[in-house]
Amino acid sequence: MAVDSLTPPVEGPAFSPGLEGVPATHSAICDIDGRQGLLTYRGYTVGDLVGQSSFLETAYLLIWGELPTAAELRAFEHEVQMHRRVSFRIRDMMKSFPSQGHPMDALQASAASLGLFYSRRALDNPEYIVGAVVRLLAKIPTMVAAFQLIRKGQDPIQPRDDLPYAANFLYMLTEREPDPMAARIFDACLILHAEHSLNASTFSARVTASTLTDPYAVVASAVGTLAGPLHGGANEDVLTMLEEIGSEDRVEAWLDQAIASKQKIMGFGHREYKVKDPRAVILQKLAEELFDRFGHDPLYDLARRLEQAAATRLGPKGIYPNVDFYSGLVYRKLGIPEDLFTPIFAIARTAGWLAHWKEQLGANRIYRPSQIYTGASGRDWMPLQAR
Ligand code: ACO
Repeated sequence: MAVDSLTPPVEGPAFSPGLEGVPATHSAICDIDGRQGLLTYRGYTVGDLVGQSSFLETAYLLIWGELPTAAELRAFEHEVQMHRRVSFRIRDMMKSFPSQGHPMDALQASAASLGLFYSRRALDNPEYIVGAVVRLLAKIPTMVAAFQLIRKGQDPIQPRDDLPYAANFLYMLTEREPDPMAARIFDACLILHAEHSLNASTFSARVTASTLTDPYAVVASAVGTLAGPLHGGANEDVLTMLEEIGSEDRVEAWLDQAIASKQKIMGFGHREYKVKDPRAVILQKLAEELFDRFGHDPLYDLARRLEQAAATRLGPKGIYPNVDFYSGLVYRKLGIPEDLFTPIFAIARTAGWLAHWKEQLGANRIYRPSQIYTGASGRDWMPLQAR
């Protein structure tokens, strides 16, 4: 008889698939009010940050908990600027990646490789923490831009010290100095994607951090988690979906068929929000600013029509556009290839991952949840020849 069948069932905490509603940490970094559609970083609304701040200032706020003084911000921006270059050995490694490989895989491998160069782990040394924060924020965009040029058969171009963070990234990607308005809107997109509490990639970052491994491994594990279509990968799929729908007159029939076949509508729904994601509200305004300046995109009309049609069909279930619904349209207008949308998300979210890494180290306990075993027990060994 199976040994386990003699053991009375033990009462434990209720199982929640996907850990929905289960608090896994205390955190002072970001707060989401999913009913009112409010998102704050360290107590400041994302709307205020998009209007008043820059991505690097927001990253500083997220990681160190307070807004920097003017001198602190200058010093931080300077440090990040000084570390933007990536070793020629990492660039050579990237040249050996298959050019048809996904840029998220290239980014994950490149981010992990930083650990080979800066592996002296000294997690109790504040200078080590600052150095890792600066390096990761500085080098991740350079690596994303480098792979883009490498896969086109070109040599990566060096960062420009006279350009701020967002403008420099667009320059490294397109080899052209960007229009200031395009750079400002891109910087706003980075702010909007910088942090979002305990989403899958941040949870992954915290689990990895809790083993006291190095921060490059923390970010690499989070990049791998972000790549999936239910998380960061959705913004790529939104454009594919809009292109598949094709025209405004097909929206309602397409949506009805998709709902009837239980297909997930990409860029809709969120575990935390039961109203329209506040980041989608801001991104939609940014998209409209871009279209006013650089010309309209007919896919935007289609997207709005889809949002309207979905409001009556999915709205009652609390399913509304999330951050990914309009971000792809913004990036497309900025001339960014679709498979770079998620790596750009990773550039921004590196700030949040690092904030959580630092917070995790401040009160660390290794993550080790339990499980409810549902497999077989007490089986008799069967020799190979008898199977
Ligand atoms: N389209 C249609 N129906 C949906 C959608 C959607 N996008 N999202 C949820 N639902 C429905 C489900 O079918 C389910 O219905 P049912 O109860 O009748 O079976 C119900 O809403 C609950 O859905 P879950 O998948 O259980 O909700 P969960 O909280 O686990 O999922 C998620 C959240 C993964 C984001 C989901 O909404 C989804 O897959 N969305 C599409 C992908 C996407 O846009 N991801 C980006 C998220 S934002 C980010 O990561 C940055």
